[in-house]
Amino acid sequence: MAERRVIPLSRPEPRGAEPGIAVQGLHLSRGGRALLRGVDLALSGTGITALLGPNGAGKSLLLRAIAGIIPPDAGEVSLAPRLLRPALVFQKPVLLRRSARANLAHALKLAGLPRAARATRIPKLLEQCDLTALADSPARKLSGGEQQRLALARALAADPALLLLDEPTASLDPKATAAIEAITLRAAGRGVKVVLVTHDRAQAERLAGDVVFLHEGRAVEHAPAPRFFANPASPEARAYLEGRLIL
Ligand SMILES: Nc1ncnc2c1ncn2[C@@H]1O[C@H](COP(=O)(O)OP(=O)(O)O)[C@@H](O)[C@H]1O
Ligand SMILES: [Mg+2]
Repeated sequence: MAERRVIPLSRPEPRGAEPGIAVQGLHLSRGGRALLRGVDLALSGTGITALLGPNGAGKSLLLRAIAGIIPPDAGEVSLAPRLLRPALVFQKPVLLRRSARANLAHALKLAGLPRAARATRIPKLLEQCDLTALADSPARKLSGGEQQRLALARALAADPALLLLDEPTASLDPKATAAIEAITLRAAGRGVKVVLVTHDRAQAERLAGDVVFLHEGRAVEHAPAPRFFANPASPEARAYLEGRLIL
């Protein structure tokens, strides 16, 4: 816990008027089961939004729909032009069997950066994610936390304006979690919009400016984080925050 408190960063507040992400009437079914059931959301184009809720609530599906990688059955997601081409990070990083540096070089090449620009950008990315000393280590030999820092560095390589994180710390210890949270906060501080899926209430409290609470495929509540945690409006969120099982 102590590691988390020394992070000298404050939570970036969303600026309400900034255009961001609009989700309208989003429905998604698979195998006859309705998994997202009419999700409507308006998210600011800045700050960190947490998608919070129990397992199976539809958080990952909603994040993928926002990313444009799963087409909905009905409804739509619109992104402000600045937010097009989001970067995604998942719980389990999938890295190339090469060095940390080569993983970043590959991502920058895919993003279309010329060789000279790649050469100057790589050390900056390594530094941002505290990987300088590990630049030449094989990515698959890194610890879970280091791999996830590399996955974040790779996601940030193309300088995205929208970062979508799906439980990026779910398999990490507190110290590795704190490092990922610090990188996330710094990115948001630079103006990157972050949508963070988590089922960790404390993480949402540490990072998010606003919280969307999902339950059974519905966004049952969307509120500024302080208000959500102090006084959740929906019975589902109240039960979740009180640690009662919701079925
Ligand atoms: N491709 C799929 N086919 C059928 N069911 C799915 C599929 N993807 C997810 N689901 C189901 O949809 C529900 C929501 O999934 P998900 O968004 O992954 O939840 P979580 O909130 O835990 O991220 C779960 O019940 C899951 O089993
Ligand atoms: Mg999930």
